[in-house]
Amino acid sequence: KLHADGRIRAIGVSNFLPEHLERLIGETSVVPAVNQIELHPHLQQNAAREYHAEQGIATEAWSPLGQGKGLLEVPAIVAIARKHNRTPAQVVLRWHIQLGNVVIPKSVTPARIKENIEVFDFSLDTEDLAAISALNEDRRLGPDPATLDGA
Ligand SMILES: NC(=O)c1ccc[n+]([C@@H]2O[C@H](COP(=O)([O-])OP(=O)(O)OC[C@H]3O[C@@H](n4cnc5c(N)ncnc54)[C@H](OP(=O)(O)O)[C@@H]3O)[C@@H](O)[C@H]2O)c1
Repeated sequence: KLHADGRIRAIGVSNFLPEHLERLIGETSVVPAVNQIELHPHLQQNAAREYHAEQGIATEAWSPLGQGKGLLEVPAIVAIARKHNRTPAQVVLRWHIQLGNVVIPKSVTPARIKENIEVFDFSLDTEDLAAISALNEDRRLGPDPATLDGA
């Protein structure tokens, strides 16, 4: 209603599965501008990304660094980081950008915030992208929106 009344120009949603987006679009005819979902190399969300692209919905990644835990120590990522003289976090962020994801990593550490911005002056090559693509395990760190009970 707010959109129809012109009081908002766009809506964004989070943790919507394609089925939820279909219902929203079907019942309101409004296509959200963005859907923020858990997305990192261990949970690459290819089906959701494809559906978003078809609909013109931007994909935004939450926990883009896998919450800074084991992902940044994965040997394939460490090797790519060494090859480009970058950090594993920069490699993961660059992977998101090259895929077309909106990416907002969280850090309270000034040096890391600076590091996380410095990802626009190098590129991953097809070999790097393939190696990261092979890391997908469809493994979630957060809750599954298919079974979330609204708690
Ligand atoms: N919509 C949702 O349901 C949902 C759910 C979860 C999260 N989110 C949002 O997604 C955003 C990020 O997600 P997140 O915080 O879960 O995970 P994340 O951004 O993947 O990881 C954050 C962790 O990584 C560390 N880190 C950041 N930069 C680093 C670097 N360069 N090197 C090494 N470690 C680094 C941070 O440590 P320090 O802070 O100690 O530097 C922090 O512990 C947040 O803004 C959050 O609000 C949304």
